[in-house]
Amino acid sequence: MKKTLVLYWPEGGAVDRCAHKIFTALTPEKADIFNLEEVDPQIFDNYTGIIAGGSTVGAENWEEVSGNNEWTLFLKKCKDKNISLNGKTIAVFGLGDQILYPHHFVNDMADIIHTFTDMGATPQGECAADGYRFESSKAFSDGKFVGLPLDEVNESEKSDERIANWLNKLSI
Ligand SMILES: Cc1cc2nc3c(=O)[nH]c(=O)nc-3n(C[C@H](O)[C@H](O)[C@H](O)COP(=O)(O)O)c2cc1C
Repeated sequence: MKKTLVLYWPEGGAVDRCAHKIFTALTPEKADIFNLEEVDPQIFDNYTGIIAGGSTVGAENWEEVSGNNEWTLFLKKCKDKNISLNGKTIAVFGLGDQILYPHHFVNDMADIIHTFTDMGATPQGECAADGYRFESSKAFSDGKFVGLPLDEVNESEKSDERIANWLNKLSI
């Protein structure tokens, strides 16, 4: 049976909370959920769909500020091992704060999804910017976000609906 992997980091905050909302909506029959620190790159063998989530906690240059970010380290490990994700789908969700960081809102979604597509995964789950208040984002191009932005700092009351609408559009 086709199963989706919900992979998230960090643990214990907004990303963790939203990852579990997504997993609960998908149900354990259709999905498994892991914190990045629990898995190695071979994990993808068991899944046809991947949903990856992280937060943005550095404004200017993700590579520079996130040397010890588990997403950076894990994706580098995948690339070093030449992991192929051909035939699998990738959708990302990203936590951010559009009021304090309006020029870098959910930037890191871009780095995450692009690394997955570089490994051969097919992207899905773009989102329109309707309802968000931000100035710019690396994760926003051609009038769409590359994934689902969630702002648990300022708009936590909108997360459930945003997640439900987004999951409805994914083919999983
Ligand atoms: C030091 C720091 C830097 C941040 N930089 C950004 C940023 O550049 N863009 C953004 O959208 N949010 C930024 N945020 C907000 C976080 O992404 C947000 O609080 C998120 O909910 C954190 O999720 P977590 O608790 O799972 O890590 C930053 C937060 C901190 C503490």
